[in-house]
Parts: sequence; C-alpha cells; structure tokens
Amino acid sequence: MANKKELRIGLIGCGFMGRTHSNGYNRVSNFFPDLEYRPVLQAVCSRTESKVKTFAEQWGYKSWETDWKTLIARDDIDAVDICTPNNMHAEIAIAAANAGKMILCEKPLSRTLEEGEKMVEIIKKTGVKNTVWYNYRRIPAVTLAKQIIDSGKLGRIFHYRANFLQDWTISPELPQGGEGLWRLDAAAAGSGVTGDLLAHCIDTAIWLNGSIEDVSAMTETFIKERVHQASGKVQKVDIDDACIFHCHFDNGSLGVFESTRYARGHKAQYTFEINGENASIRWDLHDLNRLEYFDHNDDSIVRGWRSIHVTDGDQPYMDKWWVPGLSIGYEHSFVHHVADFLKSLETGEPCSPTFEDALVTQKVCEAVIESGKSRSWKTIN
Ligand SMILES: NC(=O)c1ccc[n+]([C@@H]2O[C@H](COP(=O)([O-])OP(=O)(O)OC[C@H]3O[C@@H](n4cnc5c(N)ncnc54)[C@H](O)[C@@H]3O)[C@@H](O)[C@H]2O)c1
Repeated sequence: MANKKELRIGLIGCGFMGRTHSNGYNRVSNFFPDLEYRPVLQAVCSRTESKVKTFAEQWGYKSWETDWKTLIARDDIDAVDICTPNNMHAEIAIAAANAGKMILCEKPLSRTLEEGEKMVEIIKKTGVKNTVWYNYRRIPAVTLAKQIIDSGKLGRIFHYRANFLQDWTISPELPQGGEGLWRLDAAAAGSGVTGDLLAHCIDTAIWLNGSIEDVSAMTETFIKERVHQASGKVQKVDIDDACIFHCHFDNGSLGVFESTRYARGHKAQYTFEINGENASIRWDLHDLNRLEYFDHNDDSIVRGWRSIHVTDGDQPYMDKWWVPGLSIGYEHSFVHHVADFLKSLETGEPCSPTFEDALVTQKVCEAVIESGKSRSWKTIN
C-alpha cells in the first residue's frame, strides 16, 4: 500500500449514498490490489456537526467539515464526491471544478437540463476528471449483458423495456421535503420518479441499446398536496409520482419504460429486457447475480430461457471476489465504480458515464417530463 499513489477524497453528504461510496473506497484496495492508486478518506462533510463526526469515525475519515465550501477550498483534497440531494449537485460541482478538483457526482447529474449543461460546460473548460454514479452498469450481470449485446449475438434489436417500481409514497400522510423526504419536493429533486428511478433505466438503456430519438410520456401525481416538512404547511406536490413513456431508439428498436412509487408490493424492482432477432436478455435487480438469456440458435429440443449465475472468474469483475458460485451484492457495484475510476487515472481514459454521458440521460428525462405535461412527442436533440 505504501508505494501506491493517493487519491484524497472529500465526500459531501452522509446519507444512503455517502455510506455506499465510503464502503466502496474502504473495500477497493483489498479486492483490486493491482491498482496504482488508492483512495484516502481525507474528509467528509455534512451540515450537522454531531452527525458528520459520528460518520467520520464510523467510516474512517481523517477529518470532517460542516460547510462544503470549506471542504472544496482545502488543498489536501484531490476529488470531491457529491452525495447530496439533487439541488446541490450543480453548485457543488461547479465550485469543485473551478477549484481544480476531480468530481464524482451522484445521479441524476442535475435537476434540469439547463443545470446539467452548465456542469458540462465547466468540466470542458477546466478539464477536471469526472464521473457520475450510474452504478447499475457495474453490476456484473448487467456488464455481461453489455458484452453479449456488443458481441452481436442478439442480432437486430426490436424491443427494449424497463421498469423501476416502488411503493413507499402511497400514504397521503407522508410529508414532502427535508431530511429523508427531499425526493418528494420538486425544488430539491427536480422531478419525481423520472429523475430518481427512470434516469437509471435510461442510462442503462442508452449504454446497452444506443441513443434515444424521441419520447412520448404519461406522468401522474396521485397525491396532489402534502405537508412540507420545512414550512409545516400543506403544499402542492410538483413531482411525478409515476411515469410511463415509450420511445424510438436510433437503431430502429422500440422502447417502453415504466416507473412508479405506487406499485404496492414493490420496494425497488428494477428490471429490463431486450429482444433481438436471434436472442433475448433480461435482468432483475431482485436477483442481481443472474442474467436470463434465450438463444434461438440453441438446438430446439433444449431451447429455452437459461438463467446464468454470473459468479464465474471469467465474467465481469468476478475474478476479484470469492470463488465461482458465490454471489455478491448491490454494494459491490460501487466498489467496481471506484476501481474503474482509479484505473482511469492510470490510463487517462474517461470513467464512464462522464458528465457528458449523463447529460444525454438528462436530455431524455427533460423530454419525458415535457412530453408528459404537453401530451405530445418530444424529439431528443
Ligand atoms: N446511484 C444510486 O443508485 C443512488 C441511490 C440513491 C440516491 N442516489 C442519489 O444520491 C444523492 C443523495 O441521495 P441519498 O439517498 O444518499 O440521500 P440522503 O437523504 O440519504 O442523504 C443526503 C445527505 O446530504 C446531506 N446534505 C444535504 N444538504 C447538504 C449540504 N448543503 N451540505 C452538506 N450535506 C448536505 C444530508 O444531510 C444527507 O446526509 C441524490 O442525488 C440521489 O439521487 C443515487
């Protein structure tokens, strides 16, 4: 470890993603020992002193701050990791880039396309290294899906469909805004399920199946008013509770996407399926180590959906973990993202998805929201 180059991390936001990323930084050198770089947990930032202090001790950060601007101003930080709600992404990223820091930003890139464009502009101007945590790309079964599709095994693609279903906002008593509930507040989140959940589905879809040409969407806000945690008053709800859209991909295939937080019984069910002329693939987050694969070229008497347990050493990332047959989890996608980011420092290659890549997803999200409002097709420029 002593001879490794250091990447000194300054992480902002101690919530759900603060924990997954910290776990990623802590694990990566154990399981990817050949990397030239190792992350150092230099500082963590959150607004409440007692909370950030406890977090720093729990995850092994050397120091802590309560003001993200102070963290960015420190000259012992190489990379800023943005794990705050969406309304903070642009401001922090722009300040970090201006300070010459590398940036690892949570998804969605921004609340709006306009904010995202400013973020990409500053990245281009400053040239700082960057990535956006669309982590599902780095679940081994999903990475394997990408390899199979890129090998051409599916042939011409006809269909792509994805769902991301949850059920946690059905109660009208649930307030909006503030700690833990900022996702229901459009001012903090930008949008509802579109930016929060469909953004993941869109990122994966573009990665696997190429660009989206145009979209037609339905959006709905089932609970129109909720108490806001900040004001204590009943306020209009401006997020989309549910969104269904269909689209044309540039490769001529058709896409169908659905996301909701009102699908009783579903906690976080992300699934996708892609159908080609020769073969089909499907994946389900609830069984994330498995990739379902149907190959029409199989001998007809044994032809059927196979369930590939993606745990073998020649499958993506799996040589780094246990022995064939043993599963890994959700958290490993973040370890893989850290490993790929560190590797990209060695190679000088971008660590995808970059801000520019994530801006494309942002364009689709914005078009989906506009289409839902106007009940018309929107073209993606
Ligand atoms: N990649 C994924 O799968 C995934 C999953 C969940 C969330 N996210 C994204 O990660 C981001 C954070 O989501 P989360 O679930 O971790 O939220 P969270 O509410 O659990 O945590 C957010 C943290 O940011 C802190 N924070 C808010 N404003 C701050 C400020 N001004 N300065 C410092 N800290 C501040 C909060 O106190 C909290 O600790 C969001 O952009 C979200 O969309 C991505």
